Amino acid sequence: MTYQTPYHEDQELDNNDSSNVHFRDILEKRISRRNLIKKTASGAAALALASSLTACGDDDDNSNSSGGNTTPTDPNTRPEKLTFSPVEKNLDDWVTVPEGYTASVLYAMGDSIHPAFGAWEDNNVPSGPSFQFRSGDCHDGMSFFGLDTAKGQFDATASEQGLLVMNHEYINQTFLHPQGPTKPNGRRPEDEVIREVNAHGVSVVHIKKDNTNQKVEIIQNSLFNRRITASTVMDFNGPVANTTLLATQYSPVGTKTRGTHNNCGNGYTPWGTYLTTEENFIGYFKRAGADEYAGRSEKEKIALKRYGLGLSIDYLYEKNADGTPKKNEKGQIIYLLDPAGNKIPNKDEQNRTVYLDTNSRYAWETAIGEAESQDLYDRWDATIKGATATQDFRNGPNTFGWIVEIDPFNAGQNPVKRTALGRFAHEDCRASRAIEGQPFAFYMGDDSRGEYIYKFVSDATWDPKDINTGYRAGDKYMNNGKFYVAQFNDDGTGQWVELAYGQNGLNEQNSIYPFSSQAEVLTFARLAGDTVKATKMDRPEWVAVNPENGEVYVTLTNNSNRGTAYTTDAANPRNYSDPEGGKGNVNGHIIRFKEENSAAETFEWDIYLFGAEAAMAENINLSGLNDNNDLSSPDGMWFDPRGVLWIQTDDGAYTDTTNCMMLAALPGQVGDGGAATAPNEQATIVGAKVTDENLRRFLTGPAECEITGVTMTPDHKAIFINVQHPGEDSKSYDAPTSHWPASQTDRTNQTARPRSATVVITRNDGGLIAG
Ligand code: FEO
Ligand code: CA
Ligand code: CA
Ligand code: CA
Repeated sequence: MTYQTPYHEDQELDNNDSSNVHFRDILEKRISRRNLIKKTASGAAALALASSLTACGDDDDNSNSSGGNTTPTDPNTRPEKLTFSPVEKNLDDWVTVPEGYTASVLYAMGDSIHPAFGAWEDNNVPSGPSFQFRSGDCHDGMSFFGLDTAKGQFDATASEQGLLVMNHEYINQTFLHPQGPTKPNGRRPEDEVIREVNAHGVSVVHIKKDNTNQKVEIIQNSLFNRRITASTVMDFNGPVANTTLLATQYSPVGTKTRGTHNNCGNGYTPWGTYLTTEENFIGYFKRAGADEYAGRSEKEKIALKRYGLGLSIDYLYEKNADGTPKKNEKGQIIYLLDPAGNKIPNKDEQNRTVYLDTNSRYAWETAIGEAESQDLYDRWDATIKGATATQDFRNGPNTFGWIVEIDPFNAGQNPVKRTALGRFAHEDCRASRAIEGQPFAFYMGDDSRGEYIYKFVSDATWDPKDINTGYRAGDKYMNNGKFYVAQFNDDGTGQWVELAYGQNGLNEQNSIYPFSSQAEVLTFARLAGDTVKATKMDRPEWVAVNPENGEVYVTLTNNSNRGTAYTTDAANPRNYSDPEGGKGNVNGHIIRFKEENSAAETFEWDIYLFGAEAAMAENINLSGLNDNNDLSSPDGMWFDPRGVLWIQTDDGAYTDTTNCMMLAALPGQVGDGGAATAPNEQATIVGAKVTDENLRRFLTGPAECEITGVTMTPDHKAIFINVQHPGEDSKSYDAPTSHWPASQTDRTNQTARPRSATVVITRNDGGLIAG
């Protein structure tokens, strides 16, 4: 008898066992690099001027102009210092904002965006299909697109009406269903599965803002309102489209798939489209142990393992009377050992090693539907079942893990998965500044322990005439270009290594994975990154591009295995203990780099900010955080068009003291600090120490939430954030540990279900946010 492995979270988060050289080999060679980065006296003024002209989606093509001594007259320039009253750390079950600001809940899980569907009721959770017109769960990355109401098109300057587009990353099953999730007779009920599938994906919500009191509301009967879910039909484009790697029973030629899921961070394009990311997609698939002997090639097995869908050997164990495994006092299974002390694999009748099933997170593949739509559920099982790949869903996992472009202004065309940007656990996707005549870079993180940072550089150069041409512009800028992975050297320099078939060992002779096409390089980007010895990072999450100078910031949220499975290095320098018990890079950091231009193949880097508790030792609290700005596990991050950096947390290491938060920052630039020493004498390079005036806590969230997703109206008078999974530690639907969002207005509420939601924050005097 075999037992099934539980949902394979650790497989999903930790798959980089490649033998890439870490910085340890070159640390001693570290040289001072301060003189590599020269600041000019006029630099700051020139940058401030540029910032007022380079708003995302700005169709002003002189955004690259710099120099001149004119004082910017645009009221929305970057503030010189932060003056709002900092929010104190707290464990309150509601959103707290600075004095003089108001936070209002705008769009919570289950809220209707269609007049035919009623409002959410806690005790009457609506049908699964109705969620095609209701807010999904676990709100995440988000962008505001101004609306030209006369033309029904994108207008980067419009603040009174716009489309708020956001991700619904995953689901909190406990509170999504009337009484939590069920699985009678080992099968998920179809209505529950439909509700869960529909609660994933993306929302497009038409909103309007009152120009006098800044009040924001949803226009519920707008035709722009729309849900994209984990079953919406999507097209593939770019080098992997139309290849056998994407062949399924649904699309034998590999040009289509259904749905997007685990949409985490996001991006947007200057031509007016939204980019969503597919992060922990692999956990949605089942792969039966029998798949080991079903005809998988060695190449397929290597790729499945590297992406977290490998199979584990079924080892023999001591059994209880009922056949379940006996466990030791630590809860670990007690395996049978051979005389040499090795675990003994279970064998089948043909004396072959038996492998365990790798189960899916939500068991969607177990649902039974109508015969003609049964494949909507079958597709979540990646086990080989048919004679060829066009008769089953063995390639299902290859159809996820991409960047997806969505035109919020065009519901008539399918969203497009842009395969030229590679396949991995995509967290975020930020475009470089829109500069006429220059190519775009799209910067992307692979959020898993020890994974890589990538960029794609378009062949095409920016032409502002492409604004409002939707997927046509996407085809132009996102299908053809160069794909790179980052290497950080210990001396503060770095290089982008191109991942191109036939170059840098990416060929048939490769011992890690014998690549036979660019389509394979892109689909198995992690294996390509291993080949060229990319730098293993502490879980790259969001990316932000400084509108002032184009510098690129990446949050590295934390890494419990830094210092053990992953040796420390200058770019991932800390391994220490948290007073509450964690180890490794406990509180995370934000690395940043500067390139000559978006197409550059080299860069200079430093670490802008180290997360820490204010009271931690100086060699941990390397950025000099105090009680007004200390933070842990930076995750969401965005530069607003003025150049204010917003930093959000998804934390578990400081949550004994404070709920997750958002801070505002006014960073300097790469090279404004210098050499520093982390614990264990690990050398690193840190930016200038922060002060209260350039980093300050703006907001705290309700109990057990993550704060993620941030965008603003172009007038900078309304800022939107998402509260994800409040009360996520609740043991059951009738014992919620948070009552937010009800608690936002009724602080004594003790009964309401917790729900993820979008919050809009405005100033009571109608002024500029953080202005
Ligand atoms: Fe979805 Fe890496 O956070
Ligand atoms: Ca995240
Ligand atoms: Ca996270
Ligand atoms: Ca702690």
